[in-house]
Amino acid sequence: MSHATSSAAAGYLSGFGNEFATQAIAGTLPVGRNSPQRVAHGLYAEQISGTAFTAPRHQNRRSWLYRIRPAAIHGRFTPLQQPRFHNDFGSGAVTPEQLRWDPLPMPADDAGVDFIDGLFTMAGNGSPVAGTGIAVHVYAANRSMQGRFFYSADGELLIVPQQGRLRLATELGVIQVEPQEIAVIPRGIRFRVDLPDGAARGYVCENFGAFMRLPDLGPIGANGLANPRDFLTPVAAYEDVEGDFELVSKFQGHLWRADIGHSPLDVVGWHGNHVPYKYDLRHFNTIGSISFDHPDPSIFLVLTSPSDTPGVGNLDFVIFPPRWLVAQDTFRPPWFHRNMASEFMGLIHGAYDAKADGFAPGGCSLHNCMTGHGPDAATFEKASAADLSSPDVITDTMAFMFESRAVIRPTGQAIDAAHRQVQYQQCWHGLRKHFQPPGEG
Ligand SMILES: [Fe+2]
Repeated sequence: MSHATSSAAAGYLSGFGNEFATQAIAGTLPVGRNSPQRVAHGLYAEQISGTAFTAPRHQNRRSWLYRIRPAAIHGRFTPLQQPRFHNDFGSGAVTPEQLRWDPLPMPADDAGVDFIDGLFTMAGNGSPVAGTGIAVHVYAANRSMQGRFFYSADGELLIVPQQGRLRLATELGVIQVEPQEIAVIPRGIRFRVDLPDGAARGYVCENFGAFMRLPDLGPIGANGLANPRDFLTPVAAYEDVEGDFELVSKFQGHLWRADIGHSPLDVVGWHGNHVPYKYDLRHFNTIGSISFDHPDPSIFLVLTSPSDTPGVGNLDFVIFPPRWLVAQDTFRPPWFHRNMASEFMGLIHGAYDAKADGFAPGGCSLHNCMTGHGPDAATFEKASAADLSSPDVITDTMAFMFESRAVIRPTGQAIDAAHRQVQYQQCWHGLRKHFQPPGEG
């Protein structure tokens, strides 16, 4: 490694989907054009487009990067083996059973597992080939990526830390996230994951479809749910570092590696809207019923990747944050239900209000299309007899759901995992029959 320089700026720009402009060295960004004959400071100009060139203006995403070396400079790609991280969701029979898992075990202290090697694919649908669907992964890691950089050509990555902070050094700048925050890395953007706390665990949803956006608010009005100004994109920061490094690419569901003689995080200035961002889930403006019944969980929608069918999500990212339940003459926890959509849930922090126990932070559950589920027996008994004269104040919790219009197929390794709770569906077996027809009392 030689000649390390970095602009140490740890700042962010505010807003969702904005046309941002940022430079680590004054005078880097060209004025009045994107590709001048000579870029300032001897840099190269390079565009990265996240949508078709001709996508409608309100959906168009691209950024212009002014960098030390173009992205084209690296060695030849060869296949990389990391068999736990893939997009093979099978094509055969898939169980409709309710599924749940304990947290992915952390690697042994001396194992030295980085973010890429720590990924474990749980489930998914569609494919990067089809350009629709999602993959759901969990990760457990205990070492920063060393001399290693990653990008996915297959989709954007929604990263949901559950334990331990992540420092995401990206081409466009540095994002720091902690549990209860999320980060999104767009398709193609190269990055390295550093672990400031050592051990780290969390969830990753890979979105093969249209990039996520904020949902329309309809009658809610101009404000509420996730507010645009709370999304933060990093300011430009660059590394001018040379060494024997590795570039890992995820391409069409498989991993590839190439030698690279320098850090690809060498972008001195950039402008555009194909950008990484972070969001603090604790800023979500949670809206609920103040009369009776429960709104559908779409009221908790943070970000959505639309499908070709209006109103139907390829991916809906939904959270269950702290909130007050005040509805009267109402069963306050989530009701029993079967949905068209398929639901993959995780728990970042605290306890989830529909499950008294068994769903630990870092754990997962999967309830697929038309699979019956809902509160467990203990929660049902408690909520049916609860005193509704005062509100239920739910604090210290953060659960989330990756919801998809297509069945989310568990991987073979998830079905066979030692940390799967094979007795999970028994949590409903304690729901007793209470039916009493009139006259038989
Ligand atoms: Fe559900």
